[in-house]
Amino acid sequence: MKTNIVSNVTITNDIKNIDWVELEALYKAVKWDGFPKEKLKKAYDSSYFVTLAYLDRQLIGCGRVVTDGVFYGAIYDVIVHPEFQGIGIGKKIMNDILSKVDDIFFIHLTATTGREGFYEKLGLRKHKTAMARYTHPDPAKEYLEKAKTI
Ligand SMILES: CC(C)(COP(=O)(O)OP(=O)(O)OC[C@H]1O[C@@H](n2cnc3c(N)ncnc32)[C@H](O)[C@@H]1OP(=O)(O)O)[C@@H](O)C(=O)NCCC(=O)NCCS
Repeated sequence: MKTNIVSNVTITNDIKNIDWVELEALYKAVKWDGFPKEKLKKAYDSSYFVTLAYLDRQLIGCGRVVTDGVFYGAIYDVIVHPEFQGIGIGKKIMNDILSKVDDIFFIHLTATTGREGFYEKLGLRKHKTAMARYTHPDPAKEYLEKAKTI
């Protein structure tokens, strides 16, 4: 049954038919607020490529890449709708993404808390010296260590 669902999921990199209201709802379904459709459209239009997962005509997953196409790139916003999590759709999205960034020297991402193992299974490893800055206090509190050298 689960395998059937995954094999019926279509992956596309074409963003021209995105229903931005549906995309915003996908983010909200995993409790990612603060991604209004207008900003999502701007961000998706500026992304190097986007991976979308559809079941029939329903958008059930996404992920995207920002990169210079040669040296550096980052993966963002890998989401599977909660109703469809745990059956291999996230892996399907990530396999599409990873297959398209094979030539890029350095790919990074920040896993959400508790999802590190998902990315480890796909071959990614923790980066010892990653540094980051957030303008919003909530992710800063969740993800940033206290400064050690100042
Ligand atoms: C993270 C997320 C995309 C994973 O998608 P998913 O469809 O549930 O994952 P899959 O079913 O494809 O899992 C693939 C493999 O990773 C494993 N896995 C999934 N989530 C995991 C977790 N949190 N920790 C460890 N392993 C995990 C699965 O067991 C599976 O292992 P297998 O290949 O040995 O069977 C999904 O949980 C999600 O959308 N979460 C909310 C949004 C989010 O936090 N996204 C991450 C942004 S960085």
